[in-house]
Amino acid sequence: MAPAAGAVLLALAAPASAATISDHASSAAALRDIKAAIAVITGAEDAAASGPASYRLAAQSAINALVGEHSRQFVASVPNPGDAGGAIGQVNHLLDRRANPPFVPVLHGVLVNVLAAVGHLQDARKARGLTAFEVASSRALEDLDVAQGRASEYDVLGGMAGAIANTGLGVPAGAAILNGCAAPARTGYGMSHGWLAWRAVTLSDATIPDAGAAFIRKDGNMVVFYTAAAPMVRHLCDTHAAAIRPTVTRAKPKPARLIEVAAQAAATKALYTAAQAKQGKAVYSADCASCHGGNLQGVAAPAIAGKDFLATAKKDGWTVGVIRTIVTQNMPFNNPASLKPAQYAEVIAYLLASNCYPAGKTAFPEHAPTDFATMKIVTPAHPAGTPNMFGVCAVK
Ligand code: HEC
Repeated sequence: MAPAAGAVLLALAAPASAATISDHASSAAALRDIKAAIAVITGAEDAAASGPASYRLAAQSAINALVGEHSRQFVASVPNPGDAGGAIGQVNHLLDRRANPPFVPVLHGVLVNVLAAVGHLQDARKARGLTAFEVASSRALEDLDVAQGRASEYDVLGGMAGAIANTGLGVPAGAAILNGCAAPARTGYGMSHGWLAWRAVTLSDATIPDAGAAFIRKDGNMVVFYTAAAPMVRHLCDTHAAAIRPTVTRAKPKPARLIEVAAQAAATKALYTAAQAKQGKAVYSADCASCHGGNLQGVAAPAIAGKDFLATAKKDGWTVGVIRTIVTQNMPFNNPASLKPAQYAEVIAYLLASNCYPAGKTAFPEHAPTDFATMKIVTPAHPAGTPNMFGVCAVK
């Protein structure tokens, strides 16, 4: 795109590729279907004078856009102005997940309204006269308007457009996901707790997001589109940071405890099994590597093994319990708490192994024992393995 001197260019987001259906692609397709159905019905209302055959065709065509080819309600001989999957298929695909991201309740509402619209469109299709058609089709339009999300309601997560504007549904596959709790330091999508706080782009790439933005700010060479969810994300980040970074209460050490600490320094306790860490490596590649990097060195997200990570852990007084809480409750950052308890235990085993903690005979538990809350994350005095230049031990 040609750089426009300081100007923000208006353009629609490019249609997502159909090859892999990402959440973003599914939600954008659902929105296109809903808009297509609205356009067909509005067109038919304007041209209703052309007779029953044409408005019945329009009603079926709108139904086709909403239900998609896979439904029995779809009539192949009638034009389908939307995607093959249909809005209902796409929304069901998005709802069919283990975790509970913030868009789930909104999409339930979208689904209910689209289903109601299909009911009214069926009445419109069977209408005996123009008046009956107009009554049924205007009811369908009201439902679809809510399903789409009225522009004035984007800030309260109105419909499909609001869900795309304010949640992870707005993030295209492969985009750089950054920490939405912080201000944008580079281009990408600022996410936290499943919400989208901002989208930062270079000045020459600045296109108003399809689903709108609450406010726009120029920041050096970047343009930042803040969503309506941004202030709430900030609030969540503040309360959450306090929750996961507990103030460490320092009890007066008893002599017995000192001996224990000394013993710990001599040999870091084995907290997982080698087999578990190996499993965890696979979990990591599938669910964590896209943000934390193939070597845990950090890419879009901070390093989680080696010198940098251990320095942060020491500075903030992180314990095994804190790491476990961060991983099990906040990760993967874009889909928190979505893995099985066993997978979380495995991936934490892999993190410990990558930080050169020794393997032992007891597996990392699925439920944390109380002593995890006091067990500090340390640089092992005797690394199990050979740390590379970043201080990371390879797991085979
Ligand atoms: C979509 C990107 C993304 C994915 C996927 C992801 N993370 Fe994170 N992770 C982040 C971001 C961003 C932070 C920083 C959050 C903050 O500072 O509040 C983070 C922080 C962490 C931290 C704390 C480190 C620190 O310095 O804050 C750990 C540990 C962690 N992630 C582990 C994991 C594990 C294990 C997985 C896979 C199960 C995973 N992450 C998947 C983005 C991601």
